[in-house]
Amino acid sequence: MSDFDAAKSGQFKIGGDLPVHRLGFGAMRVTGAGIWGEPEDHAEAVRTLKRLPQLGINFIDTADSYGPDVSERLIKEALHPYGKDLVIATKGGLTRTGPNVWVPLGRPEYLIQQAHKSLRNLGVDRIDLWQLHRIDSKVPAAEQFDAVKSLLDDGIIRHAGLSEVSVADIEAASKHFKVATVQNRYNLVDRTSEDVLDYCEKHNIGFIPWFPLAAGDLAKEGSLLDTIAKKHNAAPSQIALAWVLKRSPVMLPIPGTGKVKHLEENTSAVNITLSDDEFTALDAEGKKAFKAA
Ligand SMILES: NC(=O)c1ccc[n+]([C@@H]2O[C@H](COP(=O)([O-])OP(=O)(O)OC[C@H]3O[C@@H](n4cnc5c(N)ncnc54)[C@H](OP(=O)(O)O)[C@@H]3O)[C@@H](O)[C@H]2O)c1
Repeated sequence: MSDFDAAKSGQFKIGGDLPVHRLGFGAMRVTGAGIWGEPEDHAEAVRTLKRLPQLGINFIDTADSYGPDVSERLIKEALHPYGKDLVIATKGGLTRTGPNVWVPLGRPEYLIQQAHKSLRNLGVDRIDLWQLHRIDSKVPAAEQFDAVKSLLDDGIIRHAGLSEVSVADIEAASKHFKVATVQNRYNLVDRTSEDVLDYCEKHNIGFIPWFPLAAGDLAKEGSLLDTIAKKHNAAPSQIALAWVLKRSPVMLPIPGTGKVKHLEENTSAVNITLSDDEFTALDAEGKKAFKAA
């Protein structure tokens, strides 16, 4: 194995039958500023995406709303025809009315339309994993879940997931379809979704933490994280990623970048083995920072 081999992060089977290396990639940052329009450096964005299979990364997360459409189209431009072990997850359910503006829209006909558009943008016959980006509070949740079920029944999507949800939301959705993954914000210093992660682990649901590199003040010079990072000759963000990976076997982090150098740095976090003592000490510091925030 080379220094950059995401296979070292271990394997998880999405929905019980779709294997991926646990360290994936978030393709939100290959778009323009504000996750709006084309990237400033198109060639570098394409190079970053082309580098993924070479690094053993076979799980890419994107969404129709990244750009919008730009991220999905760039993935197709860079990687189509896809390798047979590549799993592309996309999402629908957020509309865009400007840079950094995200408005939920959960009308069933809209969700179904967007899944069809993602098929075309990505150039696939079926989406491996489609996630409801947000449950829209303006639309009955059951209608949104039934739309997801219809996408599964019609073979438009293979597996379905949720994003930014509570345990109660997962249980409600599970009455309509099998929830394969949950994507919530989670990192060393943001533990809001600890109960959701525990639930996912118990039910073998993939947990996709977004913003996994964040370490807040723990990354500061002289902090515990900084000390451990120096010991491992690593950046604090790599230790934050190694910690997330060790936290649970259902954890599928998707660090995002539009730069090859950062992608390589993030991938090499799989070479870091935290001792149990380091893990526990970081866990305690992370929880303390979260409570104080
Ligand atoms: N479900 C949701 O609601 C939701 C919300 C947000 C994101 N997501 C998904 O989660 C993925 C990850 O989230 P995220 O992008 O917000 O957080 P992240 O991956 O934790 O951090 C990304 C940020 O860190 C920078 N970065 C990445 N690697 C770096 C490195 N090695 N050194 C220095 N800077 C580095 C990136 O900028 P550069 O491009 O300059 O490297 C970017 O600004 C997204 O790509 C997307 O797929 C989902």
